[in-house]
Amino acid sequence: MNRVVLITGASSGIGAALAVAYARPGAHLSLGGRNQERLAEVAAGVAARGAASSIDTIDVRDATAVADWIAASDQRAPLDLVIANAGISGGTHGGPETPEQTRAIFAVNLDGVLNVVLPTVPRMTARRRGQIAIISSLAGYRGLPGAPAYSGSKAAVRAWGEGLRGDLLPQGVKVNVVMPGFIKTPMTDANRFTMPFLMSAERAAAIIQRGLAADRARIAFPLPTAFVAWAMGALSPAIVDPLLRMLPKKN
Ligand SMILES: NC(=O)c1ccc[n+]([C@@H]2O[C@H](COP(=O)([O-])OP(=O)(O)OC[C@H]3O[C@@H](n4cnc5c(N)ncnc54)[C@H](OP(=O)(O)O)[C@@H]3O)[C@@H](O)[C@H]2O)c1
Repeated sequence: MNRVVLITGASSGIGAALAVAYARPGAHLSLGGRNQERLAEVAAGVAARGAASSIDTIDVRDATAVADWIAASDQRAPLDLVIANAGISGGTHGGPETPEQTRAIFAVNLDGVLNVVLPTVPRMTARRRGQIAIISSLAGYRGLPGAPAYSGSKAAVRAWGEGLRGDLLPQGVKVNVVMPGFIKTPMTDANRFTMPFLMSAERAAAIIQRGLAADRARIAFPLPTAFVAWAMGALSPAIVDPLLRMLPKKN
């Protein structure tokens, strides 16, 4: 049972729901995000369920600040589970994605994940115990027109996490890649198209929690969307590209 848990992007959406899901008497949660006010609201919800927490305004792009935060949290109580969840998305407003947006998305979704996971690994391998969850996305199965940087960043952390899992297994550390479909959060509230099998953040958190407890390598859900996304990645671009071009795009 994971008792000491660190979550990035805990001030909103899936991260906030995961914080509440892991909150129980005896648990300690280190919650990071940029918005102090929303972090405090999440901490109040965690406290109401009998768990202790500490909140820190941390930008995952700041490698030094993140490493210091992880070191301080781990020294207070050895971390059982670290969830690299913070992420951003962006639409293309009908045109090609700008260089600025491309770099901004990779900075949070790729560098931000590296900044969290890399300082965690030596701490966990030293005690031959611990679990690291990387929040990718079903968008990580295949490059998507309308979200090239988002899908690219999620593909990168998916492949990296899968490789890392095999690398760290002999050292006693579990790595799990989480690939959600459409989850109702402020991130998807911006979408103006129908999102198939949209689910609540609370339900997603419960699925993620169960998958992590079972140490599933890849926690991809919901099943119908996961199958379609996987198939799009497996099939030839000659078949998939024309279909993808017909899909609605994020604004
Ligand atoms: N919603 C979906 O359908 C869906 C599907 C698949 C994967 N995901 C992934 O799930 C994760 C959570 O997304 P969500 O839907 O819960 O979105 P969200 O409600 O917008 O939450 C994003 C979280 O990331 C934090 N964050 C963003 N940039 C940050 C930075 N530079 N430093 C630190 N924290 C930062 C935000 O903190 P502040 O608000 O405090 O700035 C917020 O807590 C993301 O990695 C996303 O890509 C979401």
